[in-house]
Amino acid sequence: MTELMEEAFRNSPRVNSIVRPSKENKAVGNPRQALFERFAEKLVVNPLLTRRLVSFQASKTTPFYRWLKYKVAFSPELVDYLFDVIAGSPAKPFSVLDPFAGTGMTLTRACARGWKATGIELLPVGAHALNARFAADRVDAVAFKRAVTTLDKLDWEAPKPGWSFPHLRITRNAFSLETEQQMSAFLRFVEKISDDDVRFLFWFACLSVLEEVSFTRKDGQYLRWDHRSGRTLGRRFDKGRVPCFREAICERLKGSGKTCPAATEGPSRKMRVSSKDPASWNCPSWKPMLSTWR
Ligand SMILES: C[S@@+](CC[C@H](N)C(=O)[O-])C[C@H]1O[C@@H](n2cnc3c(N)ncnc32)[C@H](O)[C@@H]1O
Repeated sequence: MTELMEEAFRNSPRVNSIVRPSKENKAVGNPRQALFERFAEKLVVNPLLTRRLVSFQASKTTPFYRWLKYKVAFSPELVDYLFDVIAGSPAKPFSVLDPFAGTGMTLTRACARGWKATGIELLPVGAHALNARFAADRVDAVAFKRAVTTLDKLDWEAPKPGWSFPHLRITRNAFSLETEQQMSAFLRFVEKISDDDVRFLFWFACLSVLEEVSFTRKDGQYLRWDHRSGRTLGRRFDKGRVPCFREAICERLKGSGKTCPAATEGPSRKMRVSSKDPASWNCPSWKPMLSTWR
């Protein structure tokens, strides 16, 4: 049992309490409430599954997954708990199909048990994250650290010739000029890295800081725009301090002294991600990818 689960267990000794529809929330004109009331007698609350456990919060400190803040990702604790429940004791090997694979937490936790896992994900970020995950497991740590050290010598004012951020309408004004220039210099540096895994991880690190260095914040289905972008709609929003790209990427790659993002779960099994070549910023349309792990 993980630390989080133990904490939840200590604080919530009751399990399986039946859900009762609330008298205050009237279902009239509220389809969600009507649906809830219809099935309320059949629902049970499992207090072990706390909000922190079922949300991205629990992944914030997880090796590798702390890099990319993919807010809809499941936490490893949640997946492990559910696998424990279905597998029983002694644990049976399963084949897992995750048709909404995201960045692959369910798939990788299944693989960690030696189970077969297959996933489908609509967004390319999922393929990038999985590829980065595998690269992190097998990367030559010495080559990675060497590249991080070389980064200290980068001239952040020398951009990659001919490169500009491939803006879509929705990304216009998302970054400061300084950040776009530093991103360009960084990409010039990245393309010269000879080790494939190190190069891909540096590129992925760049992808993973984009929201942090932008004047935007994803809130549920919405993108909020900081007033400094000049795109404010409705109420004025201030995101607070926005680091420049250089600061954010160095922090990500140096990561409080831990220079290598490798996962702690040991080497990847034989895994394969099929998707288009991710080494391109311009990917306006993507087909859902199908990935199989054996
Ligand atoms: C809650 S997240 C999945 C979390 C994931 N199962 C995990 O283990 O962390 C849901 C995912 O479904 C994806 N998605 C939504 N519609 C989809 C579709 N039609 N086909 C494939 N993936 C889809 C979203 O892009 C998102 O990444």
